[in-house]
Amino acid sequence: MTEATTEVRKMDPALRFDLINLLNINEGWKTLMTKVTVDCNPNNNLKYTYDHVKLIENASKLQQRFCSEIFLEEWGTSGKIRPNLQTLMNLLYEVNLIRAAEAIASKISKDCMTTRMTSFKNILENDENTDDYSNSENFRPTILNTSLTLKNIERFDEIRIPYETLYHATNGFSDSCLIGSGGYSKVFKAELNNRTVAIKRMEKVYEERDIKQYLNEIDNILKFKHVNLLPLLAISEDKHPCIVYEFMENGSLLDCIACKERSSLLNWKLRIKLGIEVASGLVYLHTAFETPIIHRDIKTANILLDKLFVAKIGDFGLTRIGDNTMTSEGKGTSAYMSPEAFRGDVSVKLDVFSFGVVLLELLTGLPPFDEFRQHRDLLTHIIESESPIEDLPDKRAGDWNKMTVEKIYELAKLCTLVSKSKRPFMYGERGVYVALEKIQSEIDGYVS
Ligand SMILES: Nc1ncnc2c1ncn2[C@@H]1O[C@H](COP(=O)(O)OP(=O)(O)O)[C@@H](O)[C@H]1O
Ligand SMILES: [Mg+2]
Repeated sequence: MTEATTEVRKMDPALRFDLINLLNINEGWKTLMTKVTVDCNPNNNLKYTYDHVKLIENASKLQQRFCSEIFLEEWGTSGKIRPNLQTLMNLLYEVNLIRAAEAIASKISKDCMTTRMTSFKNILENDENTDDYSNSENFRPTILNTSLTLKNIERFDEIRIPYETLYHATNGFSDSCLIGSGGYSKVFKAELNNRTVAIKRMEKVYEERDIKQYLNEIDNILKFKHVNLLPLLAISEDKHPCIVYEFMENGSLLDCIACKERSSLLNWKLRIKLGIEVASGLVYLHTAFETPIIHRDIKTANILLDKLFVAKIGDFGLTRIGDNTMTSEGKGTSAYMSPEAFRGDVSVKLDVFSFGVVLLELLTGLPPFDEFRQHRDLLTHIIESESPIEDLPDKRAGDWNKMTVEKIYELAKLCTLVSKSKRPFMYGERGVYVALEKIQSEIDGYVS
């Protein structure tokens, strides 16, 4: 039922659709945005600045979604007091966006919507990735308690750990234990039963998408058994969702390459070994199940190194099952994203592309994204700079074999071809994994 008190983030999708279109006309969303005040109180300061407007425009380009849609999502889900339809309607009248205001007015008065209840089961098993969470009325943090019981209760039972235990092990998730953070979580180091672990605490879990993300990650990892995939030890889902992983002493590959002291530890032969290990993990994901599993967020920040420098792919939060799935939104990180992924075309070739960028990082030691570089993302930087091939390899990694550099570079270029059908698969005789193994065996040949 649509009421004046219905929160903007929970409005009926049909109304949302109309508003998105109406607010696009003459950039009405911008006019509206500059009127929004903090916590919906007209006496408070303005909530958004010009920079925020720019951020929305950038996100719109990146995600190929309308600015008005992103703005409604942002405003609807931020701040202590969430805007409701009444607030939105009043503002629309105030800035003379009459058609949009009337669309809300007529919806409220019709009062004919029945609330669609979405169960967790549906979310997990019917994941069409529409990413439209606005219509789900039944998402509350407490639902976590029942959610996991819907699926594989026995498996989750075995690995469940109370949140309190994790809380104490990290001194109340104190910053002194913080070892990393990503788009969806903070990661803390802790001792549990005399074992060093990494505790990933999901942030912002009150939205349906976050819970979905969390459940998706657990559900997937439990299926996986491979030496190059980060194993899960335990989960907590009372109070606040957390995932406990084996602690990876050498941190992320991104940090390892970037860190002055440690980058030299990653000599060029080790880098090739790491490339092979990541490729091996990907071959497993792409082939070991009835339908291929696409990681969707392969990047050096999501590749972790244990104490023996064995690479483990982590962060399965965006992982999806199936091939050629169309999604409404490209996720993952832009420097690693294939062109078709921006259009929502997700296939195993997306992981191949991202892996190509990882190879370039291993080879050059350069950051995947650098805002002070003319071409910010690594791939464009390398293509556009047209530097001779001998300038490419990271000197901190020692004396690269020239042939090896050329072959790795060629392979990375193949992986990052614009046309996804021309990119190789990770698997198969002509796949990336076999190619890398061949490159490695040739090195052994040169050296001996
Ligand atoms: N098991 C682990 N051991 C050591 N560091 C980790 C571990 N897991 C994650 N990290 C660190 O935390 C960061 C974020 O973790 P990740 O799982 O990618 O979270 P997000 O989903 O938020 O991106 C990683 O880039 C890494 O630096
Ligand atoms: Mg991550």
